[in-house]
Amino acid sequence: MKRVLVIHGPNLNLLGEREATIYGTETLETIDGKIKEAASQHQLEVETFQSNHEGAIVDKLQESRGAFDAVIINPAALSHYSIAIRDAIAATDLPVVEVHLSNIYRREKFRKTSVIAPVVVGQITGFGSDVYILALQAVVQLFRTVV
Ligand code: DQA
Repeated sequence: MKRVLVIHGPNLNLLGEREATIYGTETLETIDGKIKEAASQHQLEVETFQSNHEGAIVDKLQESRGAFDAVIINPAALSHYSIAIRDAIAATDLPVVEVHLSNIYRREKFRKTSVIAPVVVGQITGFGSDVYILALQAVVQLFRTVV
């Protein structure tokens, strides 16, 4: 069974109570439940991880080498400036999909740049919590095409 790691970055633990007009009303627990359900339908093993700390996310990415077959990451605010996360992703040698609940291209100017985007397979942005489900579908497709 293929193993997928899902990483949620800073402040995503507050989903449901944080800027609900932008990020929706579902809690992270609800979203993680949906991710786990979709993963089992795709016969994937999934682990979800949230941290507000850049270094903890770097550590998790380093540990993912050899332990997982793909990573889905919402780096949250770190997307816009963390070269450490970018380098950790590049070092994993795994297919990584970047996701954002909101469409980062129709918001403030500082959100339009992702320093992560150049080191991921692709990005899914703007479909609310469905981005995680769409990313799982993308990963399944990648597993089919990458021998
Ligand atoms: C986000 C977008 C980021 O700009 C923001 O800092 C977040 C969440 C999203 O999922 O839409 O915390 O990654």
